[in-house]
Amino acid sequence: MSAPTSKPVAAPPWPGSKADGVARLELNGETVEIPVVIGTEGERALDIAKLRATTGAITLDEGYVNTGSTTSAITYLDGEKGILRYRGYPIEDLAAKADYVEVAYLLIYGKLPTSDELDSFRMSLSLHTMIHEDMRNFYSGFPRDAHPMAIVGSVVGALSTFYQDSLDVRDPRQVEVSVHRLLAKLPTIAAYSYKKSVGQPLMYPRNDLGYCENFLHMMFAVPCEEYHVDPDFAEALDMLLIVHADHEQNCSTSTVRMVGSSDANLFASISAGISALWGPLHGGANQACVEMLERIGADGGNVKKYVDLAKKKDSGFRLMGFGHRVYKNYDPRAKLIKATCDKLLAKLSIRDPIFDIAQQLEEVALADDYFIERKLYPNVDFYSGVIYRAMGIPVQMFTVLFAMGRLAGWIAHWIEMHHSPTKKICRPRQVYTGEMRREFLPITKRT
Ligand code: SDX
Repeated sequence: MSAPTSKPVAAPPWPGSKADGVARLELNGETVEIPVVIGTEGERALDIAKLRATTGAITLDEGYVNTGSTTSAITYLDGEKGILRYRGYPIEDLAAKADYVEVAYLLIYGKLPTSDELDSFRMSLSLHTMIHEDMRNFYSGFPRDAHPMAIVGSVVGALSTFYQDSLDVRDPRQVEVSVHRLLAKLPTIAAYSYKKSVGQPLMYPRNDLGYCENFLHMMFAVPCEEYHVDPDFAEALDMLLIVHADHEQNCSTSTVRMVGSSDANLFASISAGISALWGPLHGGANQACVEMLERIGADGGNVKKYVDLAKKKDSGFRLMGFGHRVYKNYDPRAKLIKATCDKLLAKLSIRDPIFDIAQQLEEVALADDYFIERKLYPNVDFYSGVIYRAMGIPVQMFTVLFAMGRLAGWIAHWIEMHHSPTKKICRPRQVYTGEMRREFLPITKRT
C-alpha cells in the first residue's frame, strides 16, 4: 500500500492502532481516499468512518464476515495459524500454568495478578457467591424441564433488580462491584438451574472451596451426606473454563458489546450474551455435538454416513463441533480439550463410546476433500462434551458451562467498550429494498 502523497494522515481514532497509508476507491467517477489502520499483529483495516459522508454509500457484509466493529487489546486470534492469546499470553501456557480466576483477572484487568492481588480477588469472589434468598424462590417458578440456559439468562438479568446499588455504568466502583458479583454468583445460579431440574435442594456455596470445587459441590452435593469433589474433575473443569474464557468478537461477545453500547447495565448486557451463546451454531454446539455423536452411536456408529450427510447441502445436517468462522486450522482449544479427554478418561478408566465415535468422525472428516477444501476442523465444542459427560454433567448444562467460562471475556469486552474514547451506540445501517411510497387505501377499496 503506497504511503499517502496528498496530505499527512491524521492518527486514526481507533485506540491502539496506527495509520498505515490509504486505500483509494473509485466511486461515481471520483477517487476517494480511505485511511488504512494497522494493529499490533499487522492486521489491516479500512477505516470507513467517513465513507457515507464523503460518498453517500455504505458497505454491506452479511454476518460481518469482513467487518471489524472495534479495535481490542484483549484477545488475539490467528485463524490460519491456529493461534489464540489472551492479553498476549498463549492459551497453551494459561491452560497449563494458570487457573480460571487468575485468567479472569488477566482478561478484565489486563495483567496477570500479583500474589496479593489474586488472593484479594479470590476472597472478594468467595464473599459474593450467595444469591439473595428471594432469588432462590425464582427456581420454584420455572417448569422442571426448563432449559438451564433459559433459567440462567433470566436470573442473571434479574440480578439488576436485586443489586440496584451497582447499575451505574459510569461509576467505576459500581461496575467493579457488579463484575465481582457476576463472577461469584454465576456458578451458584448455574448449579441451581441443575438442582431445579432434578428436584434436589439448592446447596449453598462454601467459602472454603475453590471456584470450580464450589461449583461441583453445589451441583452434586446433597444435604444428607458429605460430598468430596474429585480433584481431577475440578482440574478438568478449570481448564475448560480457561479455554472458553474469551474469543474476541464472537457472536455473544458482540451481543454484549451491542447491548452495552446503549449504556444498559452490565447484568442486562451479560444476560443478552447468554441468550446469543445458546444458539446451536454458537455455544449451543457443545450440546448439539454430543446429541449428534449419540445419534451416530445409536445408528450403529456409521460415521461415514454422517460425514456424507453433512456434505449434502439440502440435508440441513452439519457436523456440530466442526468448522469455524475464524479458525481455518485446528482450533487450539480443541487440541487442549482432546488431550484432557484422553488423560481424564484413561485415569478414570472410563470408556465412553462417544469419545471413540468423535475420534473416528474427526479422522474420516479430516481426510475428506469437502472438509479439507473448506478448512473445516474440530472446534472448541467438539470434545468438550465428552469431558462434561465424564463428570456427570447433563447435556443441557454444557452451554451453561460455556457461559461460565465466557463470562470473564464478556465482562472484559464490556469494560473495554466503555473505556473507549470513541464509544458510540451500535446502530448499523441498511440498504432498503422494499416498496416505494404507496397511497393508503381505505379497507373498502383493498383487494
Ligand atoms: C463457537 O466465533 C467464535 O469465535 C465462536 C466460538 C467462540 O469461542 O466464541 O469459537 C464458539 O461458536 C464455535 C462454533 C460452534 N458451532 C458449530 O460447531 C456448528 C457447526 N459449525 C457451523 O455451522 C459453522 O462452521 C460455523 C457456524 C461455526 C461457521 O459458519 P460460517 O463461518 O458462517 O461458515 P459457513 O456456514 O458459511 O460455511 C462455509 C462452508 C459452507 O459450505 P459452502 O456453502 O461453501 O459449500 O462450510 C460448510 C458450509 O456448508 N460448513 C459445514 C460446516 N461448517 C461449515 N459443512 C458441514 N458441517 C459443518 N460443521
